[in-house]
Amino acid sequence: MSNPSLLILPGDGIGPEVMAQVRRIIDWFGANRDLTFDVSEDLVGGAAYDKHGVPLHDDTMARAQEVDAVLLGAVGGPAYDDLDFSVKPERGLLRLRKEMDLFANLRPAQCFDALADFSSLKTDIVAGLDIMIVRELTSGVYFGEPRGIHMEDNMRVGVNTQRYTEAEIERGARAAFELAMKRGKRLCSMEKANVMESGILWRDVVTEVSKDYPEVVLSHMYADNGAMQLVRAPKQFDVIYTDNLFGDILSDCAAMLTGSLGMLPSASLGAPMENGRPKALYEPVHGSAPDISGQGKANPSACILSFAMALRYSFDQGAEADRLEQAVQDVLADGIRTADLMQADGGTPVSTAEMGDAVLAKLDASI
Ligand code: IPM
Ligand code: MG
Repeated sequence: MSNPSLLILPGDGIGPEVMAQVRRIIDWFGANRDLTFDVSEDLVGGAAYDKHGVPLHDDTMARAQEVDAVLLGAVGGPAYDDLDFSVKPERGLLRLRKEMDLFANLRPAQCFDALADFSSLKTDIVAGLDIMIVRELTSGVYFGEPRGIHMEDNMRVGVNTQRYTEAEIERGARAAFELAMKRGKRLCSMEKANVMESGILWRDVVTEVSKDYPEVVLSHMYADNGAMQLVRAPKQFDVIYTDNLFGDILSDCAAMLTGSLGMLPSASLGAPMENGRPKALYEPVHGSAPDISGQGKANPSACILSFAMALRYSFDQGAEADRLEQAVQDVLADGIRTADLMQADGGTPVSTAEMGDAVLAKLDASI
């Protein structure tokens, strides 16, 4: 059998720096765990725009459709702020999500023991936190038509459309229920059924799907209350299922509970391919962080943990994913910190590459 294939898209800002560490981890698994990947690399976002005048070249898009998994760093940066909307770096990422039909975006928010007192919330509220947000990723207001800016009565009007079909709500719900079955068997669905028809439909469809998962305890919450509950008592949640826009916002909120955006991975999954693997793209939740890019300060953990998710969800290597996640935990437990994880009175932060070194040393020690 040929090796599984990975397409690496480092992107912009700190993307290439954190991805360089992931490349070392990938190589480690090849050298030590008999897990060799065929890795190719290409451009996305501003980096692709600089070369091709578009944030994602058609050839890259085609390659993404062929490989077993895509790993993406980050897109965007101030140099591209004034570009036309249609070629902004973010459009490259959105095109990948849409054309690969990656409808289920898994965003775990896990509080690492060593970082519990780093959260802006009180330690006891977040210690041991382990929630999973499943965000619908291919529809809703991000893609709904009509959209645009037009003139009405001599005034500009901006329009976006929240639109969901029941099939779209249902397939994401199934992914969320399946995850809940493997976790704490609790699912909270969030929408705004009090003001949006799409929310009423959302609630209806999720309730119907729940009949196929009688073991899972389903609850519903308005998304604004959900935001409040996330910061009031986040441990009440196991799996949260919500739409594209609410999921964007709620997942940033959940991420911050854990202390740092620099720790959080994500997986975007679509339908199974011929080989049974889901279409998949893995990326850190953090962005391109232009303020620190090129300085060797970025925390590569989120990107490394995104590769761990790839091991788990694309390559059925749960034990190796555990190994990698444990290595990151052990590094933190040793007090090794990148700058984003330093307390005001903290010691000297390690660089991006030193963080990679530390994770590799823990991996070595694990075999
Ligand atoms: C995210 C990001 C993206 C989004 C941007 C970069 C398009 O915020 O993945 O959460 O809004 O989905
Ligand atoms: Mg976001």
